[in-house]
Amino acid sequence: MKKIGILFGMENTFPQAFIDRVNSKNVKGIVAEAVQVDVVEQADPTEYAVIIDRISQDVPFYRAYLKNAALTGTAVLNNPFWWSADEKFFNNCLAKTMGVPVPNTVILPSNSRPDDTTEQSFRNMKFPMDWERIFDYVKFPAYMKPHAGGGWKSVYKVTSPEDLWAKHRETGQLVMLLQEEIIFEHYFRCYYLAGDRVHIMPYEPRNPHHLRYVVENPTKDKKLLAKVEEYTKTLCRGLGYDFNTVEFAVRDGIPYAIDFCNPAPDADIHSVGQENFDWIVENAAEMAIERAKNHKEGQMNLTWGKFISNIFVPEVKQSTKKAK
Ligand SMILES: Nc1ncnc2c1ncn2[C@@H]1O[C@H](COP(=O)(O)OP(=O)(O)O)[C@@H](O)[C@H]1O
Ligand SMILES: [Mg+2]
Repeated sequence: MKKIGILFGMENTFPQAFIDRVNSKNVKGIVAEAVQVDVVEQADPTEYAVIIDRISQDVPFYRAYLKNAALTGTAVLNNPFWWSADEKFFNNCLAKTMGVPVPNTVILPSNSRPDDTTEQSFRNMKFPMDWERIFDYVKFPAYMKPHAGGGWKSVYKVTSPEDLWAKHRETGQLVMLLQEEIIFEHYFRCYYLAGDRVHIMPYEPRNPHHLRYVVENPTKDKKLLAKVEEYTKTLCRGLGYDFNTVEFAVRDGIPYAIDFCNPAPDADIHSVGQENFDWIVENAAEMAIERAKNHKEGQMNLTWGKFISNIFVPEVKQSTKKAK
């Protein structure tokens, strides 16, 4: 029997619907349930072939539990090692190298110094920074947002250097991205699930929360939608996410990737609506079953991004040189 588990927090609609959907398919030898965590002992395997992680971004204990689960063979979706390392600035860097358009973006050193650091800790930084170069590249208005954040927290629109510096002072130790604003004619959020399952959702970020997935006359431009789908696949395969959402703002017909570091994306029926909910429940169930079937004993069963294909392992030297 191969078990599929789902680990979740406060969300109420998706986890049970997912469990019920997997079980309703009556696939021989496969069953789904809510993960049960008890004593977590080092290098002790879990009973799950697959775990869908919806919460470890908020619970460090769960992240450590999942790394142990991954090491001992569970296919943890998403890869907890990669998720621990990833952040939005790297996402943008990778997007550029893969030919996916992104807004002009820089990263800013935090306004307050990290705990237990002094001025001396920053002797490698050139002060003052070349702000003019930043303003020429990013332009105003711009968006400023945490490089490792989500849920629209600490996202600012800034209109001038003075406005930027004033708002930056509010951000404390957060490391912020400063990004060109894309004034868009269309906006999309796209679910991505391993196996290149993509679902494009027209989205209106300027609407109140409960109406953001309600868009009148969404575009039917096939070429544009095909591009959005292609970029979604490129980004998620490149990064190595099994379950993600990718946001695009379209300007002059070009989709710019805005936010694609959402590895526990909103899947609540009350915000995404019935149709999108049905898609994500069905396809997540299919993906998890596929992964359970492909699960192999005695090895790790994780997804890694394409860019990690060239892993460098230093040669073992027989002797080391003594310092002179
Ligand atoms: N560069 C940008 N151009 C236009 N709108 C943006 C830009 N960056 C962010 N936004 C707006 O701000 C919202 C929140 O930013 P986002 O990057 O998605 O952060 P979060 O991870 O907190 O959701 C987006 O949904 C979008 O509406
Ligand atoms: Mg977002």
